[in-house]
Amino acid sequence: METHTQEEVSQWVSLITYYKFALDEMDTKLTILNEEFQHVHDHNPIEHLKSRVKSMESIQRKLERKGLEVTAEHAEQHIHDIAGVRVTCSFESDIYKLVNILCNQDDVHVQEVKDYIQHPKSNGYKSLHLIVQVPVFLSTEKKLMNVEIQIRTVAMDFWASLEHKIYYKFDKTVPKHLTDELKEAADLANYLDKKMEGIRTKMDKYKESAPLLDELFEHGENSE
Ligand code: GTP
Ligand code: MG
Repeated sequence: METHTQEEVSQWVSLITYYKFALDEMDTKLTILNEEFQHVHDHNPIEHLKSRVKSMESIQRKLERKGLEVTAEHAEQHIHDIAGVRVTCSFESDIYKLVNILCNQDDVHVQEVKDYIQHPKSNGYKSLHLIVQVPVFLSTEKKLMNVEIQIRTVAMDFWASLEHKIYYKFDKTVPKHLTDELKEAADLANYLDKKMEGIRTKMDKYKESAPLLDELFEHGENSE
């Protein structure tokens, strides 16, 4: 096993701690937006929010894959998903609303956007991926830390978690009939998202045009 100097260990501990702070920052931002949406748009866009700091073993493996020496400096420079947040929303349109508002905050610096919703991967994978930098205020400095945000609908998330399990179960060589079925399932998930979005839009229109009608119905029911 490799030995590390006290200095190296301390660098790693600091780095991991800074990423943890960056995630706390991002969690707070997203939680505030979610609650604020309730007031402005009358619903919460976020169904689920999960964040994690990548394990040391995964960081090490990724650096080795890239042919880089395993140092805290290399990790910070070359691995952009050490801090990761996964956000699931009910509706596709909420994903873009949320991301636009978040990225317009003046302490959020967008580094990279991969839109696998508009441009799904050939296996059917859909999700919006962002790498953003957020500041972390320490006692002697301000550090900009990368955070990877993966944001998708509940249906896309359901699909991605099954696909991930299958991919690893078959050690990355999934039989053709299963990839075909997965593609079909992705199309169905997509259909469900569109259908739900359509119903939501209709419901919103109804709410806008007939708030009084609602009250009347309630009144009617009560008086029966
Ligand atoms: P890595 O960060 O090394 O994975 O490469 P990258 O940055 O080029 O990848 P990308 O941004 O496309 O994807 C990053 C993450 O998205 C992955 O680590 C997965 O969590 C997720 N992801 C990407 N493609 C797929 C996919 O086809 N299926 C599933 N289930 N997840 C995916
Ligand atoms: Mg990545």
